[in-house]
Amino acid sequence: MKRVLVNEAPVGEYCRVAGFVENLRNKRYMAFIVLRDFSGKLQLTVDKGAYPEVAEQVDRLTVESVITAEGRLVENPAVKMGGRELVVEKLTVESISDAMPLMADSAIDARMDYRWIDLRTEKNRLMLQAQTTMVAAMREFLLSRNFVEIHTPKLIGAASESGSDVFELEYFDRKAYLSQSPQFYKQMAMAAGLERIFECGPVFRAEKSFTRRHATEFTGFDLEFSYIDSFRDVMELEAELLQAALAAVAEKHGGEIERLFGLKTIVPTLPYPQIKLHDLYDELERRYGYTVDESEKGDLTTDAEQLSYRFSMDEYGHEFLFVTDYSAEKRAFYHMRDEKGIPQGYDLIWRGTEITTGAQREHRYDVLKQQAAEKGLGDDVKFYTEFFRYGCPPHGGFGLGVDRMTMLLLDIGIKEAEFLFRSPNRLTP
Ligand code: 4AD
Ligand code: MG
Repeated sequence: MKRVLVNEAPVGEYCRVAGFVENLRNKRYMAFIVLRDFSGKLQLTVDKGAYPEVAEQVDRLTVESVITAEGRLVENPAVKMGGRELVVEKLTVESISDAMPLMADSAIDARMDYRWIDLRTEKNRLMLQAQTTMVAAMREFLLSRNFVEIHTPKLIGAASESGSDVFELEYFDRKAYLSQSPQFYKQMAMAAGLERIFECGPVFRAEKSFTRRHATEFTGFDLEFSYIDSFRDVMELEAELLQAALAAVAEKHGGEIERLFGLKTIVPTLPYPQIKLHDLYDELERRYGYTVDESEKGDLTTDAEQLSYRFSMDEYGHEFLFVTDYSAEKRAFYHMRDEKGIPQGYDLIWRGTEITTGAQREHRYDVLKQQAAEKGLGDDVKFYTEFFRYGCPPHGGFGLGVDRMTMLLLDIGIKEAEFLFRSPNRLTP
């Protein structure tokens, strides 16, 4: 007999279900088990006198053990859980659980130690389902626009991007590094004439940050496309992409997100507001009295980033904000610059946290080499600048943090938004 999910078990029929024992009330003549599987919960009712073999198994049971049960599914208005119960005729204990090391209110670190148990909760199941829907919608959106999905290596021979924040490891008789971004290879795909590509994969950062939004390994959703006129084409594509992603999440999980997390999933309207970094600092000072030293205004400070959410809601009634015109010192050497030297890129801030950095890239070999040299990057990036020697279309793209998206969607920390969190002091389980 084939197992059915509890929310699909047909009333009036004899069926087989399986899952975890969420709750157990073992009385003298009757036993009541709350069975939980991926789809929901169901009450199992055992008449111990009528089925002594089942009763024997029930006596061994502990909470969170895994069982398979067979019996008839009947309606019973007295049952709180959906007015249905399975009258058990057969019960197999698949796996006995030891006493639970976690409680509902355990501290976050204990939950991380026993993440596989922590993930059994309804909220965490929803978190992973919403993330799945979000990424699937993004993939679908891009596939329908003829993007090609690529998988770039994470083991690399030279530090990507900056050289700091990179994990170094032994690679036979030499050094290798863990990729900090697929950036260089995304651009190689442009030089290969692929025109439109994306990748969803692991990103490693050797950052000693202990915040709600930093991990040493996270999932990046990166894309790159050719023949753009400016970085505004990249912003436009990203705005549409995220609109599609959040529309899918709202449609599929909006109700449950509201029920379990108390949050509305808002589908952003187009176009998203945008502001130059300097103008944003002026607005934050004028409206909220926020000030920072002039020397810090080339980049967005963490406080300003958070406060920008208030500004974006007050001024535009929008949760997203594009910030442009960062200073060249603070931006990567591969960002294209205009005549005034302003990087042709942006950050996208959602609910006060950076989720993306994007840009038009410098595709002209000589200019690119010059910009790398100015940042003191020579031989390290030679393999990369070679990509631009034999013809390369103008192009741009962005990198989006998937875990950051999930975390902001549900107002949780990044630890909870990852399947397994990695930080400077956490490498297990
Ligand atoms: O802003 P980042 O560093 O940009 C790049 O990697 C560029 N190569 C992207 C580009 O195409 N220009 O990283 C991209 C995104 C961030 O906006 C953030 O959402 C996420 O990756 N991110 C992190 N997420 C979790 N933990 C960390 N330590 C993160 N660092 C970046
Ligand atoms: Mg960034």
